[in-house]
Amino acid sequence: MMILRLPTLADEKVLRLADSELELDGSNFLLDGFQESEADFQEYLDRVHSSLVGENLLPGRVPSTFLVAVVDGEIVGRTSIRHELNEWLTNFGGHIGYAVRPGFRRRGYATEILSQSLVIASNLGIANILMTSNDDNVASIRIIEKHGGVLENKVDQDGVLLRRYWINNS
Ligand SMILES: CC(C)(COP(=O)(O)OP(=O)(O)OC[C@H]1O[C@@H](n2cnc3c(N)ncnc32)[C@H](O)[C@@H]1OP(=O)(O)O)[C@@H](O)C(=O)NCCC(=O)NCCS
Repeated sequence: MMILRLPTLADEKVLRLADSELELDGSNFLLDGFQESEADFQEYLDRVHSSLVGENLLPGRVPSTFLVAVVDGEIVGRTSIRHELNEWLTNFGGHIGYAVRPGFRRRGYATEILSQSLVIASNLGIANILMTSNDDNVASIRIIEKHGGVLENKVDQDGVLLRRYWINNS
């Protein structure tokens, strides 16, 4: 069984490791802005919390819910649910971003992360979910389409083709 929960100080070591694992995919595990390996982790957790309640947001950021996905006590992935869209999220980022650590892939975890994220988004009152994926990300496209994603269009993001999908979440 998978649970999604907030990260804690006790997760620091594994979350730093997960972040470096995801770097190899040109992605990130932790919320962006956490790039300094020496950055204070409690400050990061404070930012996760303030983002959740929409306080002290960095410029251009919207409130968001960042949760880690835990299976049998191990952190296997994460989700980031944005409570609203700004211009960049509307064009490229979408409402929900997820990632699964390389050692835990192809076990259905990302599918489950998106299923649970949609319930959380629904509780936040988000009835239409924008999801984006690189045009060559077969796994992510599969996950979005399994959840009823309807392709609106493909857009160019700095030379990378991106798909924009809508999921009816009402
Ligand atoms: C994309 C990602 C989240 C997939 O995680 P995952 O836990 O392996 O995905 P799942 O096990 O739920 O697989 C979902 C579907 O994609 C398929 N799939 C997974 N990896 C695949 C791959 N490398 N090639 C082809 N199909 C793949 C699975 O077979 C499954 O299809 P099915 O339901 O028909 O069986 C993971 O690879 C990742 O974190 N990548 C880096 C970050 C990223 O791309 N995030 C998504 C953009 S927001």
